[in-house]
Formats: sequence, C-alpha cells, structure tokens
Amino acid sequence: MREALRALEKVAPDLQLEEHAFGAQAIRDTGDPLPEETLAACKTAEAVLKGPIGDPEFDAAEVRPEQGMLRLRAELDVYANLRPSEQGQVNILIVRELVGGLYFGERGVREDGTVYDTMEYHPDQVERIARRAFELARGRSKRVVSVDKANVLDTSRMWRRVVTEVAADYADVGLEHMLVDNAAMQLVLATDRFDVIVTENMFGDILSDLAASLTGGIGLAPSASLSDTGPGLFEPVHGSAPDIAGRGIANPVGMLLSAALMLEHELARADSAERLRAAVWQTQRGDRKLRTAEFGDAVLKELS
Ligand code: IPM
Ligand code: MN
Repeated sequence: MREALRALEKVAPDLQLEEHAFGAQAIRDTGDPLPEETLAACKTAEAVLKGPIGDPEFDAAEVRPEQGMLRLRAELDVYANLRPSEQGQVNILIVRELVGGLYFGERGVREDGTVYDTMEYHPDQVERIARRAFELARGRSKRVVSVDKANVLDTSRMWRRVVTEVAADYADVGLEHMLVDNAAMQLVLATDRFDVIVTENMFGDILSDLAASLTGGIGLAPSASLSDTGPGLFEPVHGSAPDIAGRGIANPVGMLLSAALMLEHELARADSAERLRAAVWQTQRGDRKLRTAEFGDAVLKELS
C-alpha cells in the first residue's frame, strides 16, 4: 500500500488521499474489522483503494478480518469484480459477481450438527453482471465465456438462462457457456480460448487465482470492483502474506496495478493509469531482485 500511495502522489498529485483502519489491526484497536468511521469514509469517497487483509491470529476467532471485507463489498454494492490477467499472449478478463452466491446466502447449523452455506441468486443479480461482461467485451475481442455448473445447480441453470437472454441485446458479442470444471481445465490447456469470462462469486474466486498463476503469479494480479452508483473498490487479488510480513519483500505490483485500475475506472484518468502501468512494466522488465521499497523507487524514477 505504501508503494501504491507514493506512486499515486506522483501520477495524480491533486488527489486527496485519506487513510482509514481496516482488517486485523482494526479488530485489535476497535473490535471491528470495518469500523463505522472507516465505512462512512469509504461511502463518501470517490474511490476506495484497499490493502490486503487477513491474519492467522484470527483464523479461529469469532470476528475475522475477512468479514469486514465481505461487508465492505456488500455495503458499497460493488457487484462487478474485474480481474484482468495479462502477460505475453495471455489476455483474460474475469468478471466475477462479488456480492451474491455462496458468500452471502443463508448459512447456519442444524440441530444435528450439520453446517450449511447456500448459493442464492436473484435473476436481477445475474442480469446486471452479465450486462457488465458484455459491455466490457465490446471494448475487447467481443467474446464472452459464461461459466456455471448448470449440469447440477439450479442457480446455474437460471444463470445460464438469464445470460442467454441478455446476450440477445449484444448480437455483436459471441457467447459460450462452459461448466466450471471444464473451464478450469481449459484455462490451463487452451488459455487462448478465453477473453472475457463471467461467473458467479465462488467460481470466480477460484478461477481468478488460476488465471493469475498463468500470468506471473498472484502477487501481480490487481482487481477493480464496481457498483452502478457509488465508489468502486480497488484491491489486489492476493492476501496479506503473513509468512513474509515485516521483511520488506512483498511484491507491490498487484497494489500498484490496482491503483492504476482505480485511476482508469473510477477517476476517469486513463492517461495517468497508462503512465503508471507503463512504469510498472518497465520496472519489471529490468529483471533485478528488488525489495518492495526499491521496486517502488524504481517505479517513481520511471514516472519522473
Ligand atoms: C479474494 C479473496 C477473498 C475472497 C477472501 C479473502 C474473502 O480470496 O478477494 O479473492 O474470497 O473474495
Ligand atoms: Mn480469492
């Protein structure tokens, strides 16, 4: 996050940057991973740039950092999670539904001890994410693969029906349906079959890690989460990497590229976004083993 803030100050010096507590540190300080003050600030901001969260200290706790993250996504209604993977010949955009499905369905424990989570979708939730995917595909290679598990799940059968209906409004964009198990295999074996992938929350979580691994690893993967009205949420795909905490060796690329997505998608500063991306790529090309702050220094140098 520190490197992303430094880069933003350079490419967009007029931006007003504010920092607010979130995640494990916020639990320690306030008992809540998403304190009210932080949530209020996010809601009134133009855009939210979020660092990775999570701490094994809380893995078994009642209150966990990840709960704050799910709440923030839901409160901002950032249903459209864009996860681009680009490297060499590979250029895939995963459009992951972010505020529905298994993550937000009814859950509980039955009397006999059975624990359950449920996958729930309303057709309107599917329609809006499908529209996003088709719109985005228009600006790319005009191909959408919709991923589901329609051979088993009723939510997926409805998903497939709604996506097919939406496709009628986008006659210039090709649509293919694919089962999620096959999609995982095809991503590995026939990566170039894909351009835009649209899928539900949990499938998108899993497939986006796979796609990131095809393009240099999860440390490099950024994401943008957009709503129809309020501020977007921009965060790397990776977690907080507690195993290397404090050593100054976390790869800042996922954070830096998330800041670029924020400039592009929420702040209408495509030029600054492009400058930042170019600086990151240029820095990556020099194949030196840079520590986090050194990488950030090199990016700043490219930007000046
Ligand atoms: C991600 C993460 C989160 C998710 C976790 C930390 C809740 O894995 O952004 O992909 O599953 O959405
Ligand atoms: Mn994930």
